[in-house]
Amino acid sequence: MSLRLGDIAPNFKAQTTQGEIDFYEYLGDGWGILFSHPADYTPVCTTELGRTAHLAEEFRRRNTKVLAISVDPLDKHLGWVQDINETQNTTVNFPIIADPDRHVATLYDMIHPNASENFTVRSLFIIGPDKRIKLIITYPASTGRNFEEVLRVLDSLQLTAYHSVATPADWKHGEDVIVVPSIPTEEAVQKFPKGVKEIKPYLRYTPQPNL
Ligand code: BEZ
Repeated sequence: MSLRLGDIAPNFKAQTTQGEIDFYEYLGDGWGILFSHPADYTPVCTTELGRTAHLAEEFRRRNTKVLAISVDPLDKHLGWVQDINETQNTTVNFPIIADPDRHVATLYDMIHPNASENFTVRSLFIIGPDKRIKLIITYPASTGRNFEEVLRVLDSLQLTAYHSVATPADWKHGEDVIVVPSIPTEEAVQKFPKGVKEIKPYLRYTPQPNL
């Protein structure tokens, strides 16, 4: 059965470009992103991995470890990483899982046979410190991911995990957020001292509380 939001992210051990890892040990107490790539030496994946390497400081600031996977073998990954570093002007500083037996790809339902029998689609899972799946996004092989969106949604997940708010359409870090409907306005006024603006009884905004 496929994984859904709120499910425990299955643990696994795997060979990677940075040695053998235990997924949970790699994640530690922080957040994690596991994302799949259809194949090595492919152009879109090359740009995605380069972009992820460039964003290392952004992920570090969000206490988030990233981990990529492709079903190709380790020796192929190692050669490809050199190409990524060269062409994307970066240093890939996170592990890429070699998954030739498709153990991890199967565990995370990353192969969608009606899209491709042999290769993973572009799956992306965000996993919380409690090891539960907080977000799943699936892109087809032909569309590279928007990593600004990945950071944006990570900001929203981390904010809403710790405060009684939700984030509106197109929200970005620093903008006003929505008070969750379960909190009455009188209580919200106490809880959010920066102010609560009531547009409708069910639509209340407050400045981002963790700034
Ligand atoms: C790519 O990563 O460039 C790619 C992979 C599979 C199909 C199309 C593009």
